Amino acid sequence: MSLSVALTKGRLEKAVVDALERKGYGIEALRSKGRQLVFQDTKKDVSYFLVKSMDCITYVEHGVADIGVVGKDTLMEGGDDYYEMLDLGIGRCRFIVGGITGNNPLEKSGHIKIGTKYPNVARSYFQSLGMDVEIIKIDGSVELAPVMGLCDGIVDIMETGTTLKENGLDVFATVAEISARVIVNKAAFKMKRDEVMAFLKDMEESHAEGN
Ligand code: PRP
Repeated sequence: MSLSVALTKGRLEKAVVDALERKGYGIEALRSKGRQLVFQDTKKDVSYFLVKSMDCITYVEHGVADIGVVGKDTLMEGGDDYYEMLDLGIGRCRFIVGGITGNNPLEKSGHIKIGTKYPNVARSYFQSLGMDVEIIKIDGSVELAPVMGLCDGIVDIMETGTTLKENGLDVFATVAEISARVIVNKAAFKMKRDEVMAFLKDMEESHAEGN
């Protein structure tokens, strides 16, 4: 049976394509893709499509994709009707609490406002600390929000730390370590078990070889 795999566009894309290529998947088209979104493997019975990270979960949960490759940040934010099977160890970064230097929101009392693209992650982190904060949902350039006075701090992804640094922000806490994960549709795990397990084995070996 053929496998349908949802890949997350953007930051993870190249590393995931490299991982597939190491195990002999025929994904040349994914390297020079232009605006194309759906691809057929030229060597194996696998098709791929490229989606935004949260949509990757949606496609897997609805069974349109048997398998998804998506960041742990997105998995922590939403959706839980899938099996998380493998940590690919690529796209490593972390969720942090940041803010203006010398202005740690974790030490502030009174009303605290936190800007983030990840409201669920932020809310549950502050709840775990027993802090009741106001969450302000932001769609991008989160580092701008405390600089402009929209919030006291942020919960965001930090990879190199450059964006924080260049905007005069510091890291005050680590919320979680992040990397790319392979998720599997629950029905596909039963109905296409051999194909799914073969794909997971390849990805696991590729991860081992790539490190
Ligand atoms: C992410 C994140 C930070 C930045 C961190 O944003 O929200 O802004 O990357 O990376 P760094 O530590 O290597 O500087 P992204 O580039 O995805 O864009 P966005 O802000 O428009 O969402």
